[in-house]
Amino acid sequence: MFLICDVFSQEGIRSLTEDGYEVVYNKDLAGDGLVEEVRSLQPEVLVVRSTKVTKGVIDASSNLKVIIRAGAGTDTIDVEYATTQGIYVANCPGKNATAVAELAMGLIISIDRRLAENYLFQKQGKWRKGIFAKCLGLKGRTLGLIGFGNISQKVAQRALAFEMKVVAYDVIQKDTEGVQFVSSIDEVLEIADIVSLHVPNLPTTKGMVNAEFLNKMKDNAVLINTARGELINEEDLAVHLETNENFWYGTDVLKGEPSSKECDWEHPLALHPRVYGSHHIGASTKQAEAEIGEEVVRIGKKFKEIGIIDDI
Ligand code: MLT
Repeated sequence: MFLICDVFSQEGIRSLTEDGYEVVYNKDLAGDGLVEEVRSLQPEVLVVRSTKVTKGVIDASSNLKVIIRAGAGTDTIDVEYATTQGIYVANCPGKNATAVAELAMGLIISIDRRLAENYLFQKQGKWRKGIFAKCLGLKGRTLGLIGFGNISQKVAQRALAFEMKVVAYDVIQKDTEGVQFVSSIDEVLEIADIVSLHVPNLPTTKGMVNAEFLNKMKDNAVLINTARGELINEEDLAVHLETNENFWYGTDVLKGEPSSKECDWEHPLALHPRVYGSHHIGASTKQAEAEIGEEVVRIGKKFKEIGIIDDI
């Protein structure tokens, strides 16, 4: 049985069912509710998006063979523990990259043109054309990409279409037309007007955006984060926002995001007027959902072919 406990494509569910699997779909499962459901259903395959898969969830099914992350980052899953229990963990890298890249561009444009303030003033019946005459525009400005994987490469393509200059740093250099590779993060920070983060949440990247990093950026720089909240030392960022009145932060992710899909949750950074935020919706498009759905079905088939899952 496949237990799918996050938003998932109906087409994907149909394909899995056609392949003969029993599929239970409950997009709202998280925390204790997820543990209980896993205990009661004993699925062979658990499909999750940002829902946290803890030791408790893993221990709840003695039948669990595979956990599939319907996304790229596996940092929401206790991969180490799953592995010790002989459970495979798979993910879908690149399948939602276009959606995340589109959101990164959206945050860049929203900050540059102050779209949130425009929206609010209009809702308040205020006409403020004069204030927004100060917006800079993107053409000719430099976008610095830290990490150059699937998402970052798509951000680069889009930024080039906006006639921006693009510089990038990655541990693996990937020669790409129009993108200038530099040999250190420091170089990116020194050159870029807008810096966009595209690295996974690893022990080596956690908190990498600290005071030292921020102080190397231009005073009026914009930092974009569609990767993970954990990359940021949030105390240092809060200080930087206070002391640099032209610095902006556009983020889709915050440290300690709730696992549940809808709840009240206030984060001090998100309340800052120069922080533009969204609710970790980078991958939340129907197009990405469809691609991820197809990939999960493909992964399921592979595990069946090699005899890891068999419960039809
Ligand atoms: C990912 O890792 O692919 C994204 O964070 C997707 C998501 O959980 O929304």
